[in-house]
Amino acid sequence: MNIRQLKFFCQTSLTGTFSATARDEGVTVQAVSKSIHELEGEVGGPLFDRSAPPRARMRVSPTPGERTKRRPRAARSSSRHTEAAMTRIAIVTGASSGLGAELVRQLAEGTFGPLDQIWTVSRHARQTSPLVRPFALDLTDPASFDALEDALRETPGARVVLLANNAGFGTFGDFADMPAPDNAAMARLLMLAPVELTYRTLPFMGPGSRVLNVSSVAAFMPQPQLATYSAAKRFVLDFSRALDAELGDVDIHVTALCPRFMRTAFLDHAGANDVAARMSRLTGFEDAGRVAERGLAAARAGRALCIPSASMRALYLATKLLPYPLALAAERALMG
Ligand SMILES: NC(=O)c1ccc[n+]([C@@H]2O[C@H](COP(=O)([O-])OP(=O)(O)OC[C@H]3O[C@@H](n4cnc5c(N)ncnc54)[C@H](OP(=O)(O)O)[C@@H]3O)[C@@H](O)[C@H]2O)c1
Repeated sequence: MNIRQLKFFCQTSLTGTFSATARDEGVTVQAVSKSIHELEGEVGGPLFDRSAPPRARMRVSPTPGERTKRRPRAARSSSRHTEAAMTRIAIVTGASSGLGAELVRQLAEGTFGPLDQIWTVSRHARQTSPLVRPFALDLTDPASFDALEDALRETPGARVVLLANNAGFGTFGDFADMPAPDNAAMARLLMLAPVELTYRTLPFMGPGSRVLNVSSVAAFMPQPQLATYSAAKRFVLDFSRALDAELGDVDIHVTALCPRFMRTAFLDHAGANDVAARMSRLTGFEDAGRVAERGLAAARAGRALCIPSASMRALYLATKLLPYPLALAAERALMG
């Protein structure tokens, strides 16, 4: 294979589809079964434009006018080759405790179908099952996104079948009293990290891939004493639903998961515990295992919104019907 052909493959395929594409083209598989970094080293320069937007690099990238329900037979048969060469990866952020640890446990049990690897991302990541590949990364640091994208590029046949943007913390209290680093870190972790990770992983997704974004019932309406947190979770909710509408035609779905309080380390970090205690009196607690189960089922089914608790579904509806001052007054009355 010459350099021109190689560049063609790199521009038209994702990392992991080299082998299948090459086989289809009658080219020796060994010639291309190397990582992009190795190939780039050999040719002495970048093989494709990394700044190109994800759609330009996605395997399924129809423009709206090109969208069809069924792909042509040729495309279907070549994708059978691709399936065989795929490394099916689920990525879970905030996997070291609470809801993230539950998601990983259930994924390792096969709840989401067969997986080759589960990538867990948090500052204290560790190996919890043979499938797990831990990444000890701080997601408020932009270098972490590069590290994950590079790892995907270096994995032969990487196909992200699930990205669970779950890492998060919330600090309760008056905004004016909060240390500035808390607010900035919350904004970066809760909003920037899901946006960046979704953008970086989209080129490694295909039909059937799913994004599960952990929002919260705090997203339903602006929450005094949780101003940054509730606004950030609203961002996650709206971002997820809009993205789901954009990507649904190519069978990539994005689910916003809105749990109520869970007894996890989240509450240890939350600061003003009296506020947390009063709020949890209003919403009650739910089990992280059950939330993980519901979230994964909703993602598999391609649902845009998952509110696991029935009472919180009623609250969601109420916040849509009531004017904000009235909804807030009702919430304050209930919280005492
Ligand atoms: N618990 C609740 O009441 C509740 C309710 C609704 C929504 N949620 C949401 O559910 C999600 C999971 O929270 P949880 O309840 O499971 O809390 P948790 O037990 O405290 O877990 C939070 C996870 O986020 C990770 N994390 C925190 N800062 C990070 C950073 N800078 N970089 C990378 N990872 C980081 C933590 O790992 P390291 O410390 O190892 O980095 C941990 O794995 C969060 O998005 C939270 O907002 C929680």
